[in-house]
Amino acid sequence: MRTLIRNGTVVNANGAVAADVLVDGETIAAVTAPGVFPEADSIIEAAGKYVLPGGIDAHTHMEMPFGGTFSADTFATGTTAAAWGGTTTIIDFAVQAKGTSLLATLDKWHEKADGNCAVDYGFHMIISDVNDTSLKEMESCIDAGVNSFKMFMAYPGVFYATDGEILLAMQKATETGSMIMMHAENGIAIDQLVAQAIASGRTDPVHHGITRPPELEGEATSRAIQLAKVTGAPLYIVHLSSRHALTAVAEARDTGQNVFAETCPQYLFLSLDDLARPDFEGSKFVCSPPLRPKDHQSDLWRGLRTNDLCVVSTDHCPFCFKDQKELGRGDFSKIPNGMPGVEHRMDLLHQGVVRGEITLARWVEISSATPARMFGLYPRKGVITAGADADIVVYDPAATQTLSAATHHMNVDYSAYEGWELTGRVDAVLSRGSVVVSGGEFHGRESHGKFLARELSQYLN
Ligand code: URP
Ligand code: ZN
Ligand code: ZN
Repeated sequence: MRTLIRNGTVVNANGAVAADVLVDGETIAAVTAPGVFPEADSIIEAAGKYVLPGGIDAHTHMEMPFGGTFSADTFATGTTAAAWGGTTTIIDFAVQAKGTSLLATLDKWHEKADGNCAVDYGFHMIISDVNDTSLKEMESCIDAGVNSFKMFMAYPGVFYATDGEILLAMQKATETGSMIMMHAENGIAIDQLVAQAIASGRTDPVHHGITRPPELEGEATSRAIQLAKVTGAPLYIVHLSSRHALTAVAEARDTGQNVFAETCPQYLFLSLDDLARPDFEGSKFVCSPPLRPKDHQSDLWRGLRTNDLCVVSTDHCPFCFKDQKELGRGDFSKIPNGMPGVEHRMDLLHQGVVRGEITLARWVEISSATPARMFGLYPRKGVITAGADADIVVYDPAATQTLSAATHHMNVDYSAYEGWELTGRVDAVLSRGSVVVSGGEFHGRESHGKFLARELSQYLN
């Protein structure tokens, strides 16, 4: 089966060019000047549209046990929503519970995802129990294609790791060439601020943000960087939200340290003002690190241009307002942390192109090419070139759309961007050569997505 995507503008991380793309089976057979291949079994007309490598969301949490409940998207609903929005690969987090093994955790996450994903997927591993066994098991995880390990300086008593535990895991990462991903917030100090707020009756959702000040993200980021320096470990700061943390990352990168960072659309577009919405509406915006005062946003956009921020992931971790976010009425510390976003990352970042914050090529780089390289998937993913998987998005930059919970496909009862009018929208999506979305309809299958055993990060070769 050969599909020709013709007359479009192919956009890769190195620029845009008028070209046709010939797909044969699951891969791209050729990228040619327009008209070289006049025929195929099926034709997708892309005049006036961009032809992009499928988006890679390197940070999602489907069915994640957290805050006494589970994130609301299953692998089936979450990957379907991802496909609707032009994301054709997710990397989700397997979560080690304390007292359990990493390998049993990995098996469990394979069981959840296998046969249930509309697009391809990989895993990172969350380490919440550092001991001799789990340190040794990191090696087996790497052999199984899971070579990035998330640790938490936040959430004492849940996922929190001490500096000593982080040091041990970092030493193992150095030994194996794997990556430590860090949730960098000073959870010990934050918990004191949270307890003081609750005790004095400051219980509304906005206090979630106020008790997690950016200084404590900056401090934890610096500490993680120093630990990485001492051990020689590569470090990837997840969901960076503040200029304080960005400054620490930029300084480390300037000295040549292998420190990388991602941010998320919510930190680029939403703010503490949203957390302060009345009538418990702010709970919809509770995530950690929290949304920051608006003036951090320009710094984050600058970080994306200077490459101190090199990836935008969603940290998709949806909890419904009803019954889930509501667990924290009267006590913000009981609101499950996390926001929905997997469906709209490509569209929201396209607004950055429309507003002149980033170039067209940079849009593709931060949403597809760099995550592919960072997490060992390139050039199978992240680029439109002969031999790559035919994960392709045909994107209409002139179309408009209004985001709403009434029309989105994520399994969550609100949109963080309700009523936002966006320029640009996904027109068609192919995953390994199969049309998953076109003509406003879903044509995919929940069993189509395959597990991706990943190579080590290609920024460390
Ligand atoms: O609030 C968040 N970010 N929830 C998901 C878990 C995490 O820390 O990434
Ligand atoms: Zn985190
Ligand atoms: Zn996360």
